[in-house]
Amino acid sequence: MMRTPDALQLRLDGLPRVRLGHFPTPLEKMERLASHLSEELGKPVPSLWVKRDDCSGVATGGNKVRQLEYSFGAAQAAGADTAVITGAVQSNYMRTAAAFAAKLGMECHVQLENRVEGMGEEYHKSGNVLLDRMFGARMHHFPLGEDEKAADTNLNSIAARLKREGKKPYLFTLSADTKPVTSLGYMQCVVELFEQSIAGDMPFDAVVVPSGSAATHVGTLLGLRLAGYTGPVHGICVRRDAKSQTERVLSITRLAEDMLGCGEIVPESDVICRDDWLGPSYGKMVESTHEAIDLAGRLEALIVDPVYTAKSLAGLIGLTRAGAFEGMGNVLYIHTGGLPALFAYRSAIYPDD
Ligand SMILES: Cc1ncc(COP(=O)(O)O)c(C=O)c1O
Repeated sequence: MMRTPDALQLRLDGLPRVRLGHFPTPLEKMERLASHLSEELGKPVPSLWVKRDDCSGVATGGNKVRQLEYSFGAAQAAGADTAVITGAVQSNYMRTAAAFAAKLGMECHVQLENRVEGMGEEYHKSGNVLLDRMFGARMHHFPLGEDEKAADTNLNSIAARLKREGKKPYLFTLSADTKPVTSLGYMQCVVELFEQSIAGDMPFDAVVVPSGSAATHVGTLLGLRLAGYTGPVHGICVRRDAKSQTERVLSITRLAEDMLGCGEIVPESDVICRDDWLGPSYGKMVESTHEAIDLAGRLEALIVDPVYTAKSLAGLIGLTRAGAFEGMGNVLYIHTGGLPALFAYRSAIYPDD
């Protein structure tokens, strides 16, 4: 099959999807951030663009809206009446799923994995947790945050109990071995990017995305390759180190290729993961995280969160400083949302106040 955005759209047409997001999201230039970096470096930098997926609607938006449109589509096609989902305490995925479930009249169970140690009451009760409650989600607590297998096992036992009670649960896991339906959302985003360009092409020389569960990274990379774009897609690690994230992205890419029946489209060498801005672990801030929050706010009135989007923006800034985009005209940063977590991290963002 041809590699064009139309051919990609044809692959997506007809797949179950619940349309709740506000699309297309805007595409904007970050002129003041680019000028700041250019002045600092004493040389021109490419135009820096931002895809405002933080404005995708549904309970403050973010990348999870695109992903969940397809997961809830699959859940509805399977006749499910209950969403069962796991994530970090401050998971945007769970909050967005709880919102979808509320809107669609489904019951929602969320498993809060305690992945970040030493956090206080604001972390455990505010931000996304507050919204989960507001959307009527039933909460389950899981203390062993970084044990991904045990979290999935526990989630399975919650679903089994619900089944015994006569419910029709649908598991929203993000584990690397499940059918990567969530990645379809970012393939749809690729089609949208082509549609937004005046010339109907992809005017960006490079793309920067966060890489966590990898649904955004895999969907963007595979979608772009299926649409015929060959430029680099930089995945900025937000949870795992670059080596294990590269393995994860590659294996989910293979599953996604299988799911679409498109054959092996993405060569291994196209999977780029950088962990330079991850810090010591998931959800822990470092200097570059603070700097990204500060520059985004002061120069662009953009809100980035400490767990995901400040780290991916720190990646964009760091790669620009390191000359990774030298000679390029336009670079795209995909802003994936995360706003509610800011309130749960207030004292980590401003520790002296
Ligand atoms: C705001 C935000 N950005 C980025 C990510 C990472 O995206 P992905 O899980 O698709 O790799 C997440 C994941 O939870 C998120 O909530």
